[in-house]
Amino acid sequence: MSFRIQPTPPARPNRCQLFGPGSRSAIFEKMAASAADVINLDLEDSVAPDDKPQARKSIIEAIGDIDWGTKHLSVRINGLDTPYWYRDVVELLENAAERLDQIMIPKVGNAADIYAVDALVTAVETAAGRAKKIGFEVIIESAAGIAHVEEIAASSPRLQAMSLGAADFAASMGMATTGIGGTQENYYMIHEGAKYWPDPWHWAQAAIVAACRTHGVLPVDGPFGDFSDDDGFVAQARRSATLGMVGKWAIHPKQVALANTVFTPSEAQVTEAREILAAMEQAKKDGAGATVYKGRLVDIASIKQAEVIVRQAEMIGAA
Ligand code: COA
Ligand code: MG
Repeated sequence: MSFRIQPTPPARPNRCQLFGPGSRSAIFEKMAASAADVINLDLEDSVAPDDKPQARKSIIEAIGDIDWGTKHLSVRINGLDTPYWYRDVVELLENAAERLDQIMIPKVGNAADIYAVDALVTAVETAAGRAKKIGFEVIIESAAGIAHVEEIAASSPRLQAMSLGAADFAASMGMATTGIGGTQENYYMIHEGAKYWPDPWHWAQAAIVAACRTHGVLPVDGPFGDFSDDDGFVAQARRSATLGMVGKWAIHPKQVALANTVFTPSEAQVTEAREILAAMEQAKKDGAGATVYKGRLVDIASIKQAEVIVRQAEMIGAA
């Protein structure tokens, strides 16, 4: 560990973020009743330009009227390259109830984007006399976003979470795909005549995880568009969890349970982690820095790995 201790991210579950268009108020109650940890009411790309003003009104009403329980409540505003975003911020922060936890800023390209939103949010928040400071989450979904991912992760104390947005990211990068996440047919290698499919999202995810872990931000995997493909969703989510991400978006309610399962440590994982901690405790008593658990080496690094799983399980209440 460097002299500077790695900061811990917000201690709240973020296994699944369920999205719904702000222009479709009929589903808001269903979103509130879902098992998602985070709710994202959308003002951006799932809302047509003519519907934006009405969507803002519906979202503001719903924030105050609906019982969102203990969910983390977030609204995705429009991007800084549009004429809509400042009204999203002003109307939300002047009128929405304090129940609003967070805003999501899409298509972030550099730290200055967050600085600009922070300045506006801080001014409106102060003028409106809001007691609760609103949090930020961002989407990395452009070439600029991934190139500047570390400065973005460090950009504001308001920043809580960062997601990879596969579709806009692919478009910005000029990737030859129209799929939203998952395996890409033409991204394959051949070994002894057999094809296999590596993960084209891997490097961007790893860059996001590293930036987030450096600055105490939650790394999240974004949407998986083909909601009829449960196996594909689970495979993508498992890869994300393995890389250090804490959750994934759901763009249809059927994806919520899938994400919750993948991002909740299983009983077997928690038991094994606890056994490793116990084995290391014994090793310490015996004056050893390393020992053998189920035929494999465990040492002081294994304690930290095991603690990640136990902490996650305890936070989620699954321990
Ligand atoms: N949240 C909660 N409930 C939802 C929902 C959502 N995002 N999407 C659909 N439902 C409800 C429907 O109202 C329906 O309820 P019912 O059984 O009481 O009638 C049920 O879930 C099944 O819906 P279904 O018919 O399969 O889907 P749909 O055709 O109504 O909607 C989508 C499909 C993809 C258009 C819709 O899920 C959606 O808008 N998703 C979010 C898109 C979004 O926000 N994108 C931006 C981020 S990428
Ligand atoms: Mg997008």
